Amino acid sequence: MKKPKVFVTAQIPDEGLKMISQHCEMQIGNYDGVLPKDVLIDKVKGVDGILCLLADVIDKDVMEAAGKQLKVIANYAVGYNNIDIEEATKRGIMVTNTPGVLTETTADLAWALMMSIARRIVESDKFVREGKFNGWQPMLMLGTDIYGATLGVVGFGRIGQAVARRASGFNMRVLYYSRKRAPEDVEKQLNASFVDLSTLLRESDFVTLHLPLTKETYHLIGEEELRMMKKEAYLINTARGPVIDEKALVKALKNKWIRGAALDVFEKEPQIEPELLELDNVILTPHIGSASYTTRTKMSVMAAENLVKALYGEIPPNLVNT
Ligand code: DGY
Repeated sequence: MKKPKVFVTAQIPDEGLKMISQHCEMQIGNYDGVLPKDVLIDKVKGVDGILCLLADVIDKDVMEAAGKQLKVIANYAVGYNNIDIEEATKRGIMVTNTPGVLTETTADLAWALMMSIARRIVESDKFVREGKFNGWQPMLMLGTDIYGATLGVVGFGRIGQAVARRASGFNMRVLYYSRKRAPEDVEKQLNASFVDLSTLLRESDFVTLHLPLTKETYHLIGEEELRMMKKEAYLINTARGPVIDEKALVKALKNKWIRGAALDVFEKEPQIEPELLELDNVILTPHIGSASYTTRTKMSVMAAENLVKALYGEIPPNLVNT
């Protein structure tokens, strides 16, 4: 039997690639940065499966260019807003993602960002490297206590809950807002209270976002919401950039409506709003939520398994368009 043809848009950990190459004729996109659309369109011609990144926009043009034999699009991410699901479903193409394996790693990063912005770690590091540290000072780099503060978790799925779980060690009060209220036992276990978004924004010292990007969550945090937050509060985003109206956030940071922000994702990723680069009260990281060796390896195996199973007539374990 002829092996199915697949295109993997970028180098991913070997474990996944090994599995794919055993079962498929594989080509890998070797491009520094996001694969340009014309290259993507060219590379997918005639393939049965695509393994893509969250930065690859897989729309009608790409599916059309691939051809009628295209069976599966395996996303190397839990979020799949980069894929036109409706179009894929219409064409009978299976779409899969990588849920679960990156939950704890992304929650770790949300915490790393929260602690770094609250305790001015990045600013302090820069200060030392610039040779400005000339002795202990009572008023040097004062920050905000995390211990005992109120944590507001927006989006209470796997990652939101993992972030909340870590808060117990810091004796925090946890509020959450979500489309669906969590079961009572989960609320109890995490000591988390369900509130509406405006209550969460008004009462939290740290607001951390953990929702998918959808029509409903686009610009969920805009000028009105930022103005509701406490002046001493921080906003953390490890979800998707467009959940925040970035222009409004710049205004909020400049005018000190909030004390700071830490962003791992951006509205026009990988472009960064130039004004954000000028501000000291924001930390910027390059979408590294799931970036640990272990997690990226697990993601590669999971995406490969989804791809191969779909190509060999099985229902892939992480099918999103059932
Ligand atoms: C995802 O999987 O959606 C994450 O954003 C990757 O880091």
